[in-house]
Amino acid sequence: MRKNVHLIEHPLIQHKLTLMREKSTSTKEFRELVKEVSALMVYEISRNMKLKEIDIETPIGAAKGKVLRDEIAIIPILRAGITMAEGIIDLIPTAKVGHIGLYRDPKTLKPVEYYCKLPNHIDEYKIFIVDPMLATGGSAVKAIEVIKDRGAKNISFVCLISAPEGLETLSSTFPDVPIYTIAIDDHLNSHGYIVPGLGDAGDRLFGTK
Ligand code: PRP
Ligand code: URA
Repeated sequence: MRKNVHLIEHPLIQHKLTLMREKSTSTKEFRELVKEVSALMVYEISRNMKLKEIDIETPIGAAKGKVLRDEIAIIPILRAGITMAEGIIDLIPTAKVGHIGLYRDPKTLKPVEYYCKLPNHIDEYKIFIVDPMLATGGSAVKAIEVIKDRGAKNISFVCLISAPEGLETLSSTFPDVPIYTIAIDDHLNSHGYIVPGLGDAGDRLFGTK
């Protein structure tokens, strides 16, 4: 495993991942699980985030407090990343949210960009790009290219399930981008789906199949 790949194996996360994989899990439950797991992942990832000291007033008097030093931006890859972003902003409500719209052409499996709206001064943010599935890696690579082109510097990629093929492509293309995942599955099938995976994340989140 390359140095920039981080596998998060917290027992609570692994428990919830199993519920997500199960095909009988309803859309409602699936959505809740994605939100919960995304928040738990960011709790783990943020362990080493930098703090800065500020002056505050408690009801009793003056005090020093510590708050996150960096401005955070969450950038979901549409559409399945949206629910991950929702889980994360429940935990970090001051985070700004950008959106990048990509879909995978079912024949070529190549990403097609259709939307991009980022916070102003994106170069000043600590950025988490979120997407539940890292399959071929094409969408993640494209998203990072687009966001870097617009000036972003401090980027991490957060996904739920990854395929070895996608991890290799992403980690070798951008060795400077930390990748956080909760599972490295076996392989991709001939349609580019992760095996065993959890199926089509967007369809399971939005009930479109
Ligand atoms: C899925 C997933 C990723 C992409 C991963 O989205 O959410 O964005 O596929 O595949 P890749 O690593 O091979 O690029 P999809 O293209 O199905 O779009 P959707 O979220 O609109 O359903
Ligand atoms: N996109 C998904 O939603 N699932 C996969 O297994 C691969 C790509």
